[in-house]
Amino acid sequence: MIKLLKNPSQIVTVNTNGNNVKRGLEMREISLLEDYSIIVENNLIKDIIKNSAINKTKFDKIIELDNKVVLPGLIDCHTHLVFAGNRANEFKLKLDGASYEEIAANGGGINNTVNAVRNSSFDDLFNIACKRIEYAISRGITSIEIKSGYGLSFYDEIKILQVVKALRNKYIIDIIPTFLGAHTFPPEFKNDRLKYIEIIEKEMLPYVYENSLADFCDVFCEKSAFSAEETNYLLEKASNYGFKIKLHSEQFNNIGGIDLALKYNATSIDHLEMLNLEDINKLVKSDIVSVLLPGVSFFLNYDFANARAIIDNNGIVAISTDFNPGSSNIQDLNLVMSIAALKMRMKVEETISAVTINAAKALAIEKSTGSIELNKKADFAIFDAKEYSEILYNVGHNLNVLTIKNGDVIFNKENL
Ligand code: NIG
Ligand code: FE
Repeated sequence: MIKLLKNPSQIVTVNTNGNNVKRGLEMREISLLEDYSIIVENNLIKDIIKNSAINKTKFDKIIELDNKVVLPGLIDCHTHLVFAGNRANEFKLKLDGASYEEIAANGGGINNTVNAVRNSSFDDLFNIACKRIEYAISRGITSIEIKSGYGLSFYDEIKILQVVKALRNKYIIDIIPTFLGAHTFPPEFKNDRLKYIEIIEKEMLPYVYENSLADFCDVFCEKSAFSAEETNYLLEKASNYGFKIKLHSEQFNNIGGIDLALKYNATSIDHLEMLNLEDINKLVKSDIVSVLLPGVSFFLNYDFANARAIIDNNGIVAISTDFNPGSSNIQDLNLVMSIAALKMRMKVEETISAVTINAAKALAIEKSTGSIELNKKADFAIFDAKEYSEILYNVGHNLNVLTIKNGDVIFNKENL
């Protein structure tokens, strides 16, 4: 089947010349094409041709793009999308002046959601998550990462990862599962941390690995969660199994996460609001993707990560929603792109690279998606705009009208 995506106003290819990543100021080079169309064959990008050359080929199907902007399908590379309940009560406490860490120390925070997840069935969680996946697709997302981490017992962590597996079977978009059993200590092990770490090591990790329930293992390395020593211990075990590594680190405190990310050759290190200059210098020399989460700083009203320092020193930056009920109850990646530009002073072009090719690299899927290059998956987000800056400029207003995955239209605003 040969398809033609005809007549867009612009194609933002985010071309990498086969490098499949954009470092530093390269993030501004998004390779804009005007007066071109895209040929898709067998779910892959076959060619990008001048409109004047269209008549020379015969197509099985033409998708008219009617002067709209085409981007690579967007990638949300850090979410906690499978959860139940909500934390609106904590939202109110925060508005009254309580900090995120105070709320967590008083038994709220992550463990509040752990309660709700433990009291929910597989079906409850699956049905809630389906709506969220469909919302993401309607925002132009064609790949998304989902973490466990609100079960914190063998049964409940596996339940979440089984939900993610069922979502992968139901939806055509790429869903990348991450095991985050080391999100925090559950109340029953607050005073026996070693026991919980042993359960992760001896029960959860082997089961998750043997049943292929996660590609990545993530740890929250933070004063209120896992110490550097505990994180080191778990990352060593996870690496030995063959998990790729991610870290939640430098969110509120700097306790050594960067050195551990380097030691275990992490694919990404996420948050980094408190990253210091010395650690920036180490990070930018590596191939680790810095996944910044400006929705968290906005939602919790604290410092934004220093995106400028990482980019200006040749680092690799991705951005993501971190969608979760406590620190970023924000599902909309388009909104997060606007916040990244306005509050972290990222250029529009850098922001686009950060949710396409660099987000793909943060999930180790950059060879097959994340840019409009030949033989990559035909994944596209189409926006009702003449010029790509309009996507960020229209803050909180979704301009995505068509989402295409593997060459198939999976969302069309006109059909709503
Ligand atoms: O990425 N930092 C730790 N974990 C999540 C928040 C989880 C929660 O508050 O429920 C995050 O911000
Ligand atoms: Fe997170």
